[in-house]
This record gives sequence, structure tokens and C-alpha cells, in this order.
Amino acid sequence: MSTTLAAKIGGGDNTGLDLVNDDLALVEKRITEVITAREDRLTEIADYLINAGGKRIRPAVALLVFRACGGTDVTDMVDLSVSLELIHTATLLHDDIIDSNDVRRGKDAAPLRFGIADTLVTGDFLFSRAFEVCGRFEPKIVSWAASACIQLTEGEIMQGRYRRNPDVTESDYYEIIDRKTASLFTAGTRIAAYLGGQDESSVERMADCGREIGLAFQMIDDVLDIEGDPAKTGKRVGTDLLDGNPSLPVVWGLTLGEVREAFEAEACSASQVDAAIEAFERDRMSAKVREAAVEHARRAHELLLALPESPYRDALAGLISDLVDREL
Ligand code: IPE
Ligand code: IPE
Ligand code: MG
Ligand code: MG
Repeated sequence: MSTTLAAKIGGGDNTGLDLVNDDLALVEKRITEVITAREDRLTEIADYLINAGGKRIRPAVALLVFRACGGTDVTDMVDLSVSLELIHTATLLHDDIIDSNDVRRGKDAAPLRFGIADTLVTGDFLFSRAFEVCGRFEPKIVSWAASACIQLTEGEIMQGRYRRNPDVTESDYYEIIDRKTASLFTAGTRIAAYLGGQDESSVERMADCGREIGLAFQMIDDVLDIEGDPAKTGKRVGTDLLDGNPSLPVVWGLTLGEVREAFEAEACSASQVDAAIEAFERDRMSAKVREAAVEHARRAHELLLALPESPYRDALAGLISDLVDREL
């Protein structure tokens, strides 16, 4: 039987992912344990999002790297994967406030359902739980996790700085996604290689591998924002345009009148979004952005090949190529 993750991302073809099914089940169990709070509302909001069907891509990547590096006792890596997923979930709660999203994982977004204040505090709760879980590890590991969180906040603020600002460049875009998305993938693969017993240069190589996966991952997220099927992504189309977020299609599309107009509009209308999306289609923008993502996936794959051959390495290689073709 294929994993939930494989079924979600790659249509279930990459059965190698079954190798971390049991590890991922441990992650789920531990997440359920740690989202309890003395205030039921915190647990309710956390549970609402966590059990709405996220892909669990960060734990899956970290666990595969750990195994591919020769790690065997998965207990610590499970806890650290829990931390990564809790941090990710916290950022989604905060992101849905920042981006005014009303749909997430196919359901009403938490701010719409529970209000901004309680959603904000639940994000803080999950960040705190994440650090409670990873606080028992050596300072180096805690500082890698903390550094990812700090970069995430820097990414969100930098993105805000370029909101609706047509001066944004491709290099600004890279810096934003490096911080807001790749940072958590980097932390995961760095920690996984370290716990898997790799030497310093291999740990850094795997950190780079995680970074490349994260960059590709965000580029595809940006593509899905202009052409995705909401029934699959669980998100609305056009939110980056509506919010004035400098996604890669937007940054590259600034020479297209309709895109620039939608991006700059103080209150972007649905018809402006539609016109921009048609301009993207005419310009074959999705294909161009997917091509850029494929290049990052290729680099990730190359870095991965430094590890010895194993079914885990193959499963991760398969996941990386599925990620750039993903529809959700
Ligand atoms: C969404 O992440 C936010 C990004 C960094 C692109 P995911 O696409 O991993 O979201 P879930 O966890 O599967 O819902
Ligand atoms: C990811 O970027 C931001 C986070 C780090 C949560 P997006 O704003 O594109 O993520 P989605 O599309 O809302 O999931
Ligand atoms: Mg968002
Ligand atoms: Mg997005």
C-alpha cells in the first residue's frame, strides 16, 4: 500500500516512500500528544488545521535523509520532525492572517473560522511547543531550528516590504523564498544528516540539498497559485495577485501589462486577477517557472547522490522529482 504522502504528491507511484510510513505514523502520534493545552480552544484550533490533511513534506524529507545517511534509531528524528511540522503549522496560521486567506487545506482558514486573535495565539502556542519538543537536544540543533524560525520571520517581513512594489527583482524573490520556505527544509535536512552520523561537510551538503528542495517547492507553490485546481491544492487561485505578493510568476510577469496592473492595484479585483492569469497563460509562465523549479530539483538530486546508494536515497530522489510535477 502506498503512503498517504506518495498518494498525495506523486499519485502513489513512488512506493519507496512506504519505507518511512511507520516513522511518519510516529510523528502523527507525537503531534497529537503535544497539541494538548489547558485551554481547549488552543487544541481545537491546532487540531483543526493539523488534521485537515497537510502533506507532511518536511518530516518526510527529513526522515528520508536521516535514513539515507545511515540513521537507525529514529526516536530523536521523530521528535525533531514533529518540531519542524509544528513550526510549519504555526507559520501557516500566521500566514493565513497576513495573506487574508479564507481557504486552507480545503477548509475555511483558521482566522475566518476562529478569528484573528485566537489564530495568532495558536500559532505562538505551536512555535512554543515546537521548541519544548526540540529543547532537549544539544544547543547546536536548537540553534539550527531557531535560525530557521528567525529566517522565516525575516522572509515574511521582506515579502511585505515588496508587497505591490514593482521594483522587486528576481534576486529579491530568491532571498524571500530562501528565508520564508527553504530555511525550514534546510534545517530539516541539516539536522537529519547530523543525527544520521554524517561528517561536517556531508551535513552541509545535505543542508544545501534541503535548500534546493525548498526553493523548488516554493516555486511550484507559486505556479499552483496561478493555475492550480483548488480541489487538489485546497487553496484559492490568484491569492498572490490579490495580496500583491511577489511570487515568481508575478516578478517575471511585471513586463505584462495585466500582471503589473493586478500586482500594483491597492484593491485588486477578481477581473484584474482573471486578466493577469490569462496573460500568464499566453506567456506560458507556468512552464517557465516549472523549468526553474526543475533546475533546483536537479541540483538537489545531484547533492543527494553523494550519499551511498540505498532504497531511502532512491525514495527521496523520486520524491524530489514528484515535487516539481505536483498538483497539490
Ligand atoms: C505551504 O506549504 C506553504 C509553503 C511554504 C509553500 P505546504 O504546501 O507544505 O502545505 P501543507 O502542509 O501541505 O498544507
Ligand atoms: C509560504 O508562502 C509562506 C509560509 C512560510 C507559510 P505562501 O504564502 O505562498 O504559502 P501559501 O500559498 O499561503 O500556502
Ligand atoms: Mg500565503
Ligand atoms: Mg503560495
